[in-house]
Amino acid sequence: MKIAVLPGDGVGPEVTREAVKVLQVVVGNRTAIELTEAPIGQAGVDTAGDPLPDATLQVARKAEAILFGAAGIPGDEEIEYAMRPGASLLRLRKDLGLFANYRPVQMFPELIGASTLKPEIVEGLDLLIFRELTGDIYFGEPRGFRTTPSGERQAFNTMVYSEGEVERIAHVAFRTARTRRRKVCSVDKANVLDTSQLWREVVIRVGKEYPDVELTHLFVDAAAMMLMRAPKQFDVMVTGNMFGDILSDAAAMLTGSIGMLPSASLTQENKGLYEPVHGTAPDIAGKDIANPLAAILSMAMMLRYSFDRPDLADRVHRAVGLVLADGVRTADIHQPGTRKVGTKEMGDAVAAAVLRC
Ligand code: IPM
Ligand code: MG
Repeated sequence: MKIAVLPGDGVGPEVTREAVKVLQVVVGNRTAIELTEAPIGQAGVDTAGDPLPDATLQVARKAEAILFGAAGIPGDEEIEYAMRPGASLLRLRKDLGLFANYRPVQMFPELIGASTLKPEIVEGLDLLIFRELTGDIYFGEPRGFRTTPSGERQAFNTMVYSEGEVERIAHVAFRTARTRRRKVCSVDKANVLDTSQLWREVVIRVGKEYPDVELTHLFVDAAAMMLMRAPKQFDVMVTGNMFGDILSDAAAMLTGSIGMLPSASLTQENKGLYEPVHGTAPDIAGKDIANPLAAILSMAMMLRYSFDRPDLADRVHRAVGLVLADGVRTADIHQPGTRKVGTKEMGDAVAAAVLRC
């Protein structure tokens, strides 16, 4: 297994370390693991003067899979785009063609009480959000700042989707729905946006190739409401880059903590980048309190999708369940009657549990 490890900034290094620890235990010595670490984000600026150093991009290109922590620093948004630590991840996604972002939202029964929603709303929740990751207003040109004839500053971005971009993510969503409950909900804003009108037309067309999968559509505002009101109605959701960014954070909170949410971003050839959905969390970085479970579950997704080892991925999942059942909790998911541990201890607990299941 040739893996690039890009820990990045903030809590990235500490949670990635725990994911690697668990990886080594679950793989054991049956398969050789080749890990190559490289800096990204502010770590890239510090070592090579670039948030996405060429050497890092090469390491990522050569690897079969990429374990990513987080990138960015407080005040990031004020730095020019090309030098912005947080934007390194966007460049990496684009450069490698990681267009299919899987964001599974699964409720561990042990954490039902940690959700801000009522237990009956989230119990048994199992939904998968597909977010298109290399198009939309995130990358559309032109973009920038200008001055109007009257001398006022103006800023603009371009929301754009081409048919091929919508088609490929739609196929991924429909194919995956076939392995689940055979339901796809496509989310757009077709009542207002031309890009969304095209999005909807293309999804309907692709859907005809999957007559056994039920296709529904929601406008993004209604989808946000439905995620809070009755999230269990959803099986697979598919949406564009920006709507997916927003909806996946909202959906993350259904499970109790964004510290629990893994993600995978895949290319057409199933090369993947695996990262926790949470970001750098600078307020808690370096304090050994961040929840490493999202990073550990992302690593499990890597075993499943890049290395075709669902058996090992399931073992990691079971181990996380065992640890939660034992009442071991990081601060973000801590409840009365459970034992609060730090990042390292949580990683150790999962690594030990892997050997029990
Ligand atoms: C995410 C993050 C990123 C995004 C940021 C860090 C650029 O919020 O992966 O959801 O907006 O895509
Ligand atoms: Mg986000």
